[in-house]
Amino acid sequence: MSENILEIKHMTVTLYENGGEYKVVNRISFNVGKGEIVGIVGESGCGKSMTALALQDLLKNHIKVTEGSMMFDGKDLRTISPAERRQINGSDMSMIFQEPMTSLNPLQRIGTQVGEVLLLHGKHSREEIEARTLEALEMAGLPDPKRTMRMYPHELSGGMRQRAMIAMGIIARPKLLIADEPTTALDVTTQSHVLNILKRINEQTGTAILLISHDLGVINMICSRVLVMYAGKIVEQGRTEDILKAPVHPYTKGLIASIPTRRMKGASLASIQGRVPPVTEEKPPCPFASRCDRADKVCFTEYPGRKTISEDHILWCHHEL
Ligand SMILES: Nc1ncnc2c1ncn2[C@@H]1O[C@H](COP(=O)(O)OP(=O)(O)OP(=O)(O)O)[C@@H](O)[C@H]1O
Ligand SMILES: [Mg+2]
Repeated sequence: MSENILEIKHMTVTLYENGGEYKVVNRISFNVGKGEIVGIVGESGCGKSMTALALQDLLKNHIKVTEGSMMFDGKDLRTISPAERRQINGSDMSMIFQEPMTSLNPLQRIGTQVGEVLLLHGKHSREEIEARTLEALEMAGLPDPKRTMRMYPHELSGGMRQRAMIAMGIIARPKLLIADEPTTALDVTTQSHVLNILKRINEQTGTAILLISHDLGVINMICSRVLVMYAGKIVEQGRTEDILKAPVHPYTKGLIASIPTRRMKGASLASIQGRVPPVTEEKPPCPFASRCDRADKVCFTEYPGRKTISEDHILWCHHEL
């Protein structure tokens, strides 16, 4: 049995638009160990959400996984039947999003929405669902679960709504929880509460977590490893500690230099000039070359091969150290 809950190899996600084909995610490979918390970091438009949506089979019709294998718990998500896939989504693998207000139904009580996840599976009695709903709300850090169950989304604060979303994400006891910018809309204090809750859930239930954020400071709070993404590619990956102490890729260095000044999703980086190119733009073999102060001819003509800095620390750049 593999020690990894998720093994992604050469995954490409292609966008079909106006007669063109564009790779929004370009041959990325990574693993998530059972019970591990892994981060994906990168600026706005780098393909983080596309990666998450591809894993959950939630891509829109004009966007498709076109290459690679996606092994989840020993099964290839690309080759299993739609019925098997539905079985996994929302139970063994679940996802929480950034905007709790748009993901929650304003007309339904919190308890009903959280419990509905189990109701859909059809395997649980009413009493069981109620008990599990209370347990999930409690684990997600809602102080008075019995009362919260009866409330409507608008009666909760932003932080409470995000906790309710977390409860929905964990009620089926997933093996992997994908959290796409779960704290970006929250103030800094609430953000760290929510991250602590995710960490505690990981420790108590052993669920692996894939945490997506544009902020390395957030990643650093709970992730043991991090993948740095730029324009659809992973450019560097390693243990969070190593990446923060000894980053090698010029893009990672730029992300780190901008940690204290940058809290806004979508804001440009203080320390790197320019912006992430749109997917429709032709990119050089090293996608970062046009913004990189170390770039020379080779970056525009050859694809940077994979380099191993240490066992866990991998880099895709022509200019090592
Ligand atoms: N529905 C869509 N149709 C066409 N292009 C899209 C669509 N959604 C996203 N894109 C493009 O795909 C690329 C990757 O987007 P993605 O949402 O994965 O970025 P992200 O890293 O999650 O960014 P953010 O930090 O803003 O959430 C971007 O260039 C984006 O403009
Ligand atoms: Mg996103």
